Amino acid sequence: MTAKFITLEGMDGAGKSTHIPRIIEILKTRGREVVSTREPGGTPLGERLRELLLHEAMHAETETLLMFAARREHIAQIIAPALARGAYVLSDRFTDATFAYQSGAKGVPADKVEILEQWVQEDLQPDMTLLFDVPVEISIARLAGARSPDKFERESADFFTKIRDAYLERARQNPQRFRIVDASKSLGEVAKAVEDIIATI
Ligand code: TMP
Repeated sequence: MTAKFITLEGMDGAGKSTHIPRIIEILKTRGREVVSTREPGGTPLGERLRELLLHEAMHAETETLLMFAARREHIAQIIAPALARGAYVLSDRFTDATFAYQSGAKGVPADKVEILEQWVQEDLQPDMTLLFDVPVEISIARLAGARSPDKFERESADFFTKIRDAYLERARQNPQRFRIVDASKSLGEVAKAVEDIIATI
């Protein structure tokens, strides 16, 4: 299998973004273009929506619709053209995050998210998703020492537990696509686990 569309997921504080430079480096050694991007965001419009999504209070379904509006633009402008060129696309979050945060934690019915997923993505799905999994206490402790928290990062332990459970359930439902990384380990151990997974792509 030639995986080309790779996504990174996990709770806030799981440390996934730290590993992006190394993943890009490994993929680049294969002589292929690597497009590194993120959600919400990835396009000028998506980045403006990100500002709203991360800092404005809004109804959970409004949030879901805006996530998918940003995603539609992201696919049209960045992801689909890059995949068509034969590039690797590495996205820091994608639709699993909407299932975890807006559905799992905030209660938007999963079937509504599935309708939007089908509308916006049609057949597009990540080839591989690395789920950085950590116990909630570790994620909260890491966030406490980090930059000033956004709207999502100020949520309660109960909220984070729901996110973690929803992600693990997504992984159970899609075992062929998910690789779970135990992100409670040391930075070096996590980096090694990530390298081993990327080597299989
Ligand atoms: P980041 O801190 O990993 O860049 O993610 C930004 C925040 O956006 C994070 O708290 C998760 C949240 N988010 C959602 O709630 N739903 C989504 O669909 C996406 C992509 C992100």
